[in-house]
Amino acid sequence: MKLLGVILLTMTSLAAASAATTVQHSTFGHMPDGKPVEIYTLKSAAVEIQVMTFGARVVSLDTKDRNDKMGNIALGYASFDKYLTDNKTYFGSVPGRYANRIANGKFALDGKTYQITINDGPNALHGGKVGFADLNWSGKEIPGGVEFTLVSPDGDQGFPGTLTAHVRYTLHDDKVVIQYSATTDKPTVVNLTNHTYFNLSGDGSGTILNEELTIDADKFTPVNSTLIPTGQLAPVAGTPFDFTSPHAIGARINENNEQLKIAGGYDQNWVLRGKMGELHPAAQVYDPASGRVLNVETTEPGVQFYSGNFLDGTFSSRTGAKYERRNGFCLETQHFPDSPNHSNFPSTELKPGQTYHSETTWTFTTRK
Ligand code: BGC
Repeated sequence: MKLLGVILLTMTSLAAASAATTVQHSTFGHMPDGKPVEIYTLKSAAVEIQVMTFGARVVSLDTKDRNDKMGNIALGYASFDKYLTDNKTYFGSVPGRYANRIANGKFALDGKTYQITINDGPNALHGGKVGFADLNWSGKEIPGGVEFTLVSPDGDQGFPGTLTAHVRYTLHDDKVVIQYSATTDKPTVVNLTNHTYFNLSGDGSGTILNEELTIDADKFTPVNSTLIPTGQLAPVAGTPFDFTSPHAIGARINENNEQLKIAGGYDQNWVLRGKMGELHPAAQVYDPASGRVLNVETTEPGVQFYSGNFLDGTFSSRTGAKYERRNGFCLETQHFPDSPNHSNFPSTELKPGQTYHSETTWTFTTRK
């Protein structure tokens, strides 16, 4: 009874919050085949977020700084065509069908070996050559947000099974909720995340190295020279990977540490303390310059913290500034990279009749 009360109260407050969210949509651009790309604007008193059907991507994310001034903190482009020319950054996208890397693009399932298209050195990254980030999903308005749907056919990029995936973005006052679900008609693997690059000082405002990060993890998964986990769960204690208390992202990034050298900064997966399948803390970031605080919670067992090491000035922001190295960071909540090849990692297998569920929330507050 008590539990029912709590559930009802939660449902009522979520409904009330989303009632205060307005949703509008329009056409943002066109795919090369002429199909329209729709952009949805979700607005509350605290946050305005734009998401589009192409790659189910976050295009912009406006939040308040400590002086209540709204500003965009998500890297991205003002015009749709720029997204078509950038096949490198995955700005704001939902990578899939398998976010992050699969070693040599290869894995076995029920005794059969599958080969995924290779697009990152020897490995498959973010679902292979033409992943979910590059596809135009369909969009449908829902209360307080939007639901994107994509049907990935059997054999897409080498993955078995027709996968029907949904991503829902809803806005509840100062909280963005991202819910992922998927079903399949043959055993397959699935790992979905969101690849937004944040800069809490503002998109196009330069480095993220002064922003202070906490990650709720005592262990991480060290990688080999092609960024594939070795399989080890290594303690963070005594290393630059210890973010159990807040540290500026840049404070230790240039230390003489093999893992930092391999990735050119941070680009590893942390093993979260919380219980998989239930919402638990993943990471917090505080920006002393703007006062903004981002709090990330997830049902996933891991988070990839990527410090934007591969941004190299090729692409320019909507403010005109070039996106240089470490001008944005990602917190990609996920199952661990290359899980299909590591039986000691939580499984990413999905069978017919099962439904994949994953949820991540971003809450935006400020500190004086
Ligand atoms: C990976 C990086 C990669 C980036 C692509 C991240 O998820 O961890 O290694 O370069 O995506 O933009």
